[in-house]
Amino acid sequence: MAVSGFIRADEVLHEQLSPQRALELDVRYGNADLLTALEILGVAGPFRAVTPWELEDPRGVRRIQAGGYAALPFGENYPPLTQFLAKVLEASRATGLPQQASSAWRAALQSNLIRLLSMHYPSHADSQVFFSNSGTEAIEGAIKFARAARPRAQHLISFNSAYHGKTLGSLSVTPNAEYQDMFRPLVPGAVTLPYGDFDALRAKIAELRPDNVTAVLVEPIQGEGGVITPPEGFLRRLGELCHTHGILVIADEIQTGLGRTGHWFESAAQGLDPDIITLAKPLGGGLVAVGATIARKWIFKKMLGGLASKRHSNTFGGNTVAMAVGLKSLEMLIDENLPERSRRLGELGLERLRRIQAAYPELMSEVRGAGLLLAMQFQPVLSHRLLRSQDELIKELSSILALRELHVAGVQANLSLSSKRVVRLTPALNMPEDLFATMFDRVEAMARHNPQAWRMLARTPPGVLLKLGSFALRS
Ligand SMILES: Cc1ncc(COP(=O)(O)O)c(C=O)c1O
Repeated sequence: MAVSGFIRADEVLHEQLSPQRALELDVRYGNADLLTALEILGVAGPFRAVTPWELEDPRGVRRIQAGGYAALPFGENYPPLTQFLAKVLEASRATGLPQQASSAWRAALQSNLIRLLSMHYPSHADSQVFFSNSGTEAIEGAIKFARAARPRAQHLISFNSAYHGKTLGSLSVTPNAEYQDMFRPLVPGAVTLPYGDFDALRAKIAELRPDNVTAVLVEPIQGEGGVITPPEGFLRRLGELCHTHGILVIADEIQTGLGRTGHWFESAAQGLDPDIITLAKPLGGGLVAVGATIARKWIFKKMLGGLASKRHSNTFGGNTVAMAVGLKSLEMLIDENLPERSRRLGELGLERLRRIQAAYPELMSEVRGAGLLLAMQFQPVLSHRLLRSQDELIKELSSILALRELHVAGVQANLSLSSKRVVRLTPALNMPEDLFATMFDRVEAMARHNPQAWRMLARTPPGVLLKLGSFALRS
């Protein structure tokens, strides 16, 4: 059968589909408006990875990759990982989707995860792992484990500016009106409290009565919230309070875990001993999707015990390619001592950002960081008094224009999904040091060109502003 206009896989492999055509087709058949907005800003790509840490745009301009939303521990297409995957595909005779059988790859990754975990959380030596295909799915699993373990409790506590994902369960504990409002009613029982406020937590648990609280779900540092670290002792006290009452604690380590913040597990570093831990992003080495929900044995058995062991499942979780890449990724993180490197480089990076912020306070109001999770908070580009009703849009404009200006300066960065004025740098944990230094030179050059935030607006070509304006009006 001939399908007109059908694009053969080899054409894409051999780069015969031009970047222009790829973008056109993506806009036409994909998330058109998102791509259109990126295109207006001139940051839509598609990009090629010319080294694991550098991207090239269709015009041949190279930029340092500090984006990827913390899911690229080794950069893009890191040869030791891609070569290993090629060997697996060539040599392994393991079945790809072993849902109804044991799997050596899955067994090895589970075992390694628990061994690594129990070095940092000794109480997890006999915990069990459930694999899925994204961070949000790992959170869905965690919510279901918690509910199964405390069936009479009804409330799930999470925090302001939290980000746990966008499927319905995880969205219910991601308090962001833009993402939630259209989808109400959400999963009932979600309660939002101020992040880092232990007294508010204690009071709320007393008010709801502890038996009615299923779990507290917490990011040890809020990534999408703009790299917010809770006050010292908050997580430890949260854990002690919950354990006293039998309330479960879920640590969402999807963004922070496996070295990003300079620790293997940020919650352990802050003295928390959670009952359930979620991992995703870097576990897939930047190459494949792997989510993991790790729960104490008794909790695991409550949901997946005996004849009910299929009560929660998915088709692709634990598939061979994902497990092989996950196994190798974890091994490389250990062998290359990357959490330690992330801490060391992170301190240097934060120091550079602090100096840039101090020199350009009218551009950046604040910088923050933990390991290689680094944040720059920008000043508003317009006074909110100018457009009082458009406060959110004005905030967002700061980070969108900062993203564009960084792009122009040669750095690919991340927006923050729950914090409008923050742009994050999340470079690979193994980025070469000279490139790492160059990245900050470029951030500094960007600041030099925009000593006040409003300059970012003045430097944006009028055509781009016009298109952005009409784009905003039509949404
Ligand atoms: C802390 C945290 N949890 C959950 C998620 C959702 O992960 P995913 O985008 O893979 O669904 C994210 C994604 O940014 C995250 O940062």
